[in-house]
Amino acid sequence: MQPSLLEELTPIPNPYPIRVDTEFADVWRLCLQARDLAWNPVDIDHADIVQADIPADVREAGAEWWSLRAWMEHGAIAYGAQRLRDAIYTHLPFKVKQHVVNFIAEELRHHEASFRVAQALGGYEPTPRADYFQSIIPRFHDEREEKAMSFYAGLAVNTLFEQLSGELLQARYENARYASIRLACQLILRDEARHIQFGRIIMRRFFAELSAGDKRLLGEKFAKKLQGSLLNGVYAVVNLPDDERRRAGRNRALAAEHGLGATHPDEEIDIIARALEQIREDVAPYGVDIPRIPEVDDRRPVVV
Ligand SMILES: [Fe+2]
Ligand SMILES: [Fe+2]
Repeated sequence: MQPSLLEELTPIPNPYPIRVDTEFADVWRLCLQARDLAWNPVDIDHADIVQADIPADVREAGAEWWSLRAWMEHGAIAYGAQRLRDAIYTHLPFKVKQHVVNFIAEELRHHEASFRVAQALGGYEPTPRADYFQSIIPRFHDEREEKAMSFYAGLAVNTLFEQLSGELLQARYENARYASIRLACQLILRDEARHIQFGRIIMRRFFAELSAGDKRLLGEKFAKKLQGSLLNGVYAVVNLPDDERRRAGRNRALAAEHGLGATHPDEEIDIIARALEQIREDVAPYGVDIPRIPEVDDRRPVVV
């Protein structure tokens, strides 16, 4: 290796002190649950959807939908890896690190369960076919935005999104008409419920300590991420450019109409709006204000 390249390598920070504190009994309970409730995506038998009489265009729409789910779950793995690095080198307690490790493993199995559904429906897409998705997905998570917040404030923002996506996932679980898709949704949902519980513990413990500036930032970051990326085809299609909104929206509608564990574009904004009201109620006592999000607050109709 050239000496100039060696100089650019990031030195590994000193890990000491390595804390094994016994605090965070409530986080530890979640860690133990995670061990007991581990599951294996390979055990889900998708023969039902492989054999089902599903029209080709519906299979294609379903495969695109579950590929998108897989790409998004994959994004959570990278996010988790960054958090684990932070947790190790800022000497956070053992239980917090254990939870982040569980989080990564769980998001990885959500990713796997999702690409397996896509595969069984007609083929997983490793790269989005739409140009728009190719360019937007890598920008969903911005580490610079994350680093602008304290570790726990960042985790709290993530939890608010887990809460939102949990509501959407619940609707997708209810939509799933095939046993194997239903089971995948149910198992993913069970893990997500634990991620949300962790976030609630963090909120209870650390929100009171956040500075006024951090609280303001938290509300702003939440709104920005929702508007700028998650309403761009992930949670909903409302903010996609016209032609892509129609194309992606039609495919989602098709997948939902055939019970492939998807949400109809018209239904999504209502679910997000209800979840957003709940989230605002949850964070208000801590002095966190989530700015208005017109697409959601005005329940802007999604024309597909
Ligand atoms: Fe997930
Ligand atoms: Fe999650």
